[in-house]
Amino acid sequence: MTKLTSLIATIILTASLSSATAAEPAHSLTVSEGFTNPLGFYDASPTFSWKLPVGVERQTAYQLEVTSDGETWDSGWVESDQSTLVPYGGKPFESRDEVEWRVRYRDAAGDESRWSEVATFEMGLLSKEDWQAKWIRPSQDKPDVREPVAWLQRSFDLPAGVKQARLYVTARGMFDLALNGKKVGQEYFANGWTSYNNRIDILTYDVTDQLAKGENKFAASLGCGWYAGQLMGKKDRGIYGQLPELLLQLEVTLEDGSTATIVSDDQWQGTWHGPITFSSIYDGEIYDARREVSGWEQVAVEDLNDAKLAPKPFAPVRQTELVATQKITEPEPGRFVFDLGQNMVGWERLKIPVEAGKTVTVRFAEMLNQDGTMYTENYRGAKSTDTYTAAETGTIEWEPQFTFHGFRYVELSGLPEGAKPSEDWVTGVVLHTDLPKIGLFASSHDKLNQLQSNIIWGQRGNFLDIPTDCPQRDERMGWTGDAQVFCPTSMFNYDCHAFWKAWMRSLRDDQLPNGAIPHVLPDALGHGGSPGWVDAATIIPWEVYVRTGDKEILAENIDMMEKLIGYYRSKSKDGLVTEIEAFGDWLQPYSPRTQGDTPAPLLGTAFYGHSARLTAKAARTLGRDDLADKYDAEADEVAKAFAAHYFDGKGNLQNAPQTQTAYLLAIAFDLIPDDQKQAAVENVVRLVEEADGHLRTGFLGTPYLISVLDERGYHDLAYDLLLKETYPSWFYSINQGATTMWERWNSYSHSDGFGNAGMNSFNHYAYGAIGQWMYERVAGLAPDPAQPGYKHLIVKPLIDGPLTSAKAELETPFGTASSAWTKSGDSAQLTVVVPPNTTATLTLPGGDKSQELKPGEHEFEVKLDKGGA
Ligand code: BGC
Repeated sequence: MTKLTSLIATIILTASLSSATAAEPAHSLTVSEGFTNPLGFYDASPTFSWKLPVGVERQTAYQLEVTSDGETWDSGWVESDQSTLVPYGGKPFESRDEVEWRVRYRDAAGDESRWSEVATFEMGLLSKEDWQAKWIRPSQDKPDVREPVAWLQRSFDLPAGVKQARLYVTARGMFDLALNGKKVGQEYFANGWTSYNNRIDILTYDVTDQLAKGENKFAASLGCGWYAGQLMGKKDRGIYGQLPELLLQLEVTLEDGSTATIVSDDQWQGTWHGPITFSSIYDGEIYDARREVSGWEQVAVEDLNDAKLAPKPFAPVRQTELVATQKITEPEPGRFVFDLGQNMVGWERLKIPVEAGKTVTVRFAEMLNQDGTMYTENYRGAKSTDTYTAAETGTIEWEPQFTFHGFRYVELSGLPEGAKPSEDWVTGVVLHTDLPKIGLFASSHDKLNQLQSNIIWGQRGNFLDIPTDCPQRDERMGWTGDAQVFCPTSMFNYDCHAFWKAWMRSLRDDQLPNGAIPHVLPDALGHGGSPGWVDAATIIPWEVYVRTGDKEILAENIDMMEKLIGYYRSKSKDGLVTEIEAFGDWLQPYSPRTQGDTPAPLLGTAFYGHSARLTAKAARTLGRDDLADKYDAEADEVAKAFAAHYFDGKGNLQNAPQTQTAYLLAIAFDLIPDDQKQAAVENVVRLVEEADGHLRTGFLGTPYLISVLDERGYHDLAYDLLLKETYPSWFYSINQGATTMWERWNSYSHSDGFGNAGMNSFNHYAYGAIGQWMYERVAGLAPDPAQPGYKHLIVKPLIDGPLTSAKAELETPFGTASSAWTKSGDSAQLTVVVPPNTTATLTLPGGDKSQELKPGEHEFEVKLDKGGA
């Protein structure tokens, strides 16, 4: 394996399309982290973003008009090219404020656009003083099951002439709410998982059309959920509370100007007796159709506590897709296995024949055993089983409410004798945080496309209100290490700006007194401190900033970053971490330890240096130079100590085992002097060769392997590793049938069967971190940290290599950007789309010259001196 960059690219042709039509108004108006006309909005001092029409090259000035309650804040004409995250300069909004806003701009020629269409938002309830409601739950003794479901109801009368009605609702636990027999909203597992003792998110609904003159009725059910249900580490009871509770406030405005308010209070009735006798995230749901909801009594009422109540600042979980059964088998008599063809997260929708009094059991599996039966060992303690007991003989349609499963296969047993299953009996319902899909990656390589699909499914399955490690076993936690490695890739696939920013609140809320970040967030374990995991606190804000330009995420988290650096400092002597709790380079292949071979103090020092540098960068971005200087100095000291202790001055590791990861982190985190980096990367190449051309990196090293080799000129080796078919590699899992990312490269293999069931998730996004390199280098579309949020794009496609085509497309804050190339013979066609109001720098392989691109579509013919495969 040698360094190979022999390709010379010649640009033969370039065409740029752009003709400005300045009169066209701005479009796609959004507030703060990309919300379109939100209701129940959370941000009292929002930012404003808009897109310019394609054809307009540049904005030179804008004017914003923001009107609420008859008062207008007019920015006046502001000479600026800023069209994203423009700060609001008026007085902060208050609860329930209804706001209208519009924008116009001037283009490069100074021509004024027309006003945009008017966009709106309405504030949610921002303070506790807004609430008259109280927490309610059934008052009877809790039934003798670990995770029961509560039912609550209230009828109320309204006169005619409802003009507007807003419903503010949340739960400690999960709520499902119906008003006059119709589900309110389309959300599931609401209100999601926050650090409940610190803050609780509110959902807001416009229910004007759901109300009627005369009697109206609320009917709610509550699951224990993350609040009161079993979670890893707490087997017998909830971490936050014992029983689920509801908080609700309906505010009605009538045509005559009068108002009516219905709240959760002692006017409600509650019971534990209903058809769902048990529902647990891990274990599944038990439904008995013979049990009517009954035994209503007055509810137990509790005052609000100190937890902050605030509108949910990101999208809730919704049903986003239905997956049809592909195949049915009967590996054991009476047990029918429905194969959905795709590992997914959500639940089953059943349409099946049932017999009165009989129970149908529904089990789930991500994989099948050799004999076609369900492989469930990897669920560990999670029973992940639903049951339905029928009241009458006939056909039922049913799906659960407060549980979810990670599965590809659904097994039904207990069906009526002789029933012949058909494919429409089972449909997979995909559930996850409903974020807009903004990215596309495709190439000429089928397996690479499958990898991209696996990454996307891994992200969908594990973005379930929080970023989880896995969706199926008795874990499903917000593991910080997994999250930080996957964050950049996630931002290409979906618009995760608000999602990550919101999750950072849990990091701040639950940061440990010694400055360490807990292993999982919200903190369900009470431990933290592992290098590469705690650094979610620095890496994620920085990565989100680079991809959105949102400085606020740095401002909100800089104190947390500083405390984290304090934690590292407390673990170190003269810049060198001496002893630290660590998961290590988790799951490094062939290592006898799950923590891998790279020692904890080395990892600790490396991430200490990296996090200190990111803290300095964040401080510098915020204009806090003193702080930035302080952390730069600290990062320098750590790097110096790292290099002196772990390197011999010639780019060779010392005082530690020779691991790919140790070298990679030293280079990627800039911990060794530049003149040692070439020798260090040659060591990586040597170690890859010694591993017969394979990676030997775990969770922490893998994200840097290919990018470091690529950056230092080893493009062929980078491609080799990406397209490797044998273990351990991305394609190896695909060759074993993967439709999602796996926790281990060999979670299953045709030759050896299943890996150790103790740690064997078939839906773990961590190794999906490679997606970033596929977008940024294979196709060639990357952000520029110096002009974040895609104000400037770096287009550097790696055309030199075995693929014949690749394409990335991304809906940036400025509009659609793309880079697509196709090879034929000894040349390649490259098309680059640069969004309005941005610029791009294009660098072609082998070319030492870059060129600047303006907004528009540009086409190039690139002369290659060797053809692609
Ligand atoms: C999780 C991981 C996590 C790890 C910590 C596991 O159980 O599934 O993904 O990062 O523990 O070492």
